[in-house]
Amino acid sequence: MEKATLTYQNHVLELPIIKGTEDEKAIDISNLRKSANLITLDLGFQNTGSCMSSITYIDGEKGILRYRGIPIEELAEKASFSEVAYLLIYGNLPNKKEQESFSRRLTQNSMIHEEMLRFFDGFPPTAHPMAILATMVNALSVYYTDYYTEDFQAETFDLIAASLISRIRTIAAYSYKHSIGEPHVYPRRDLQYASNFLYMMFDSPVNPYVPDSEIEKALCALLILHADHEQNCSTSTVRLVGSSMVNLYASICAGICALWGPLHGGANQKVIEMLENIKKNNFTIKQCIESAKDKNSKFRLFGFGHRLYRNYDPRALILKKYCQNIFKKFNYDDSLINIAMELEEAATKDDYFIERKLYPNVDFYSGIIYRMIGIPTNMFTVMFAIGRLPGMIAQWKEMHDSVPLKIGRPYQIYTGNTLRHYVPLNER
Ligand code: ACO
Repeated sequence: MEKATLTYQNHVLELPIIKGTEDEKAIDISNLRKSANLITLDLGFQNTGSCMSSITYIDGEKGILRYRGIPIEELAEKASFSEVAYLLIYGNLPNKKEQESFSRRLTQNSMIHEEMLRFFDGFPPTAHPMAILATMVNALSVYYTDYYTEDFQAETFDLIAASLISRIRTIAAYSYKHSIGEPHVYPRRDLQYASNFLYMMFDSPVNPYVPDSEIEKALCALLILHADHEQNCSTSTVRLVGSSMVNLYASICAGICALWGPLHGGANQKVIEMLENIKKNNFTIKQCIESAKDKNSKFRLFGFGHRLYRNYDPRALILKKYCQNIFKKFNYDDSLINIAMELEEAATKDDYFIERKLYPNVDFYSGIIYRMIGIPTNMFTVMFAIGRLPGMIAQWKEMHDSVPLKIGRPYQIYTGNTLRHYVPLNER
């Protein structure tokens, strides 16, 4: 086994090099504190692996993303969302029998308890859909109580996983219907995952939902492209929270909250808000690029840059095609989309972006497609959460299946006061 040597004071430590199946390498420092009373400090975890995982492989330099070894391009084009969810969670594509049984579980667990409908009434109309989603997902644990206990069984996990994947979609659609004051629409057993969501969102007694294959295909691809992305902020949150042995609902709720932030899943909403702002204030593309480069300005080009991808985000490349197809088919006349295209062209030719390897990420195009589908802007991150759920569940399961399960508990370097003593109020 390869080793790295660390020399510190009178310690010479041999640190094993761990290799992944794609030849990525890591220095194993798990004995560092015991042997040399040292910890490592890595703000923002820019060089730290938090686990070993066999779920998703990313090569950010080459723009590669694979789920369980299968390229994302193949899955987005050929697979259904439920097949991909199964692949992520259970490790292989389902055979016919497994697919039927998984689909059945999704259908049988698609409705939410009628009493939970009252919860929606408690939210003000201005409530952000991500806040509603996180609350309702956690609330599922109150109604569906077969959650993780010490005598946790595989069948219980299968049921909760399917219940979450299916019900998150129902919750999202119901919260939209509630926000526009329309009666909610029950899921249908004859529709596939993405189509069923669109039906629950857009069907109404006076305006029946008319399915469109191009849009349904694009939504299915969007969900698949979001389904996992290894140890990102929200997935790491699911693992960290789940490592305390709390149930899956609570762990996913925490992950949804982490996803909400604008530097993460919330960027898709920020992209559209940025484009609206550019339009409203008549900013030129040149002005935007200059502000994004100006370190004194708070303006960032949302939907650009990624911690891992130093090349085109492969998901953005696929979505760009879907975006263009829908744009052409429906002959959309939307000035925001034109601004987005111009912005992308200018940024990808600008030295600042080229030098820093900043390319459009998945959020740049996903927001534009959601907008064309008719999803309201404040629900974009909810769409991300629906897509990401199978990945979060798969990562939670992988962690729980690993032996021994270690609670996540990082160290710190303390920089506060050294010992001092309490001074009574009247002496301060
Ligand atoms: N606009 C302008 N400059 C940028 C941008 C951007 N969108 N992104 C990065 N930079 C610059 C930084 O200012 C920094 O410049 P410097 O080296 O001169 O200081 C350099 O590029 C490196 O950027 P970091 O912020 O250090 O990169 P990091 O890996 O920490 O952050 C992140 C990645 C958060 C995605 C960042 O690129 C960003 O804020 N992008 C916009 C938000 C966004 O689109 N987030 C969605 C990411 S995808 C996802 O989570 C699903």
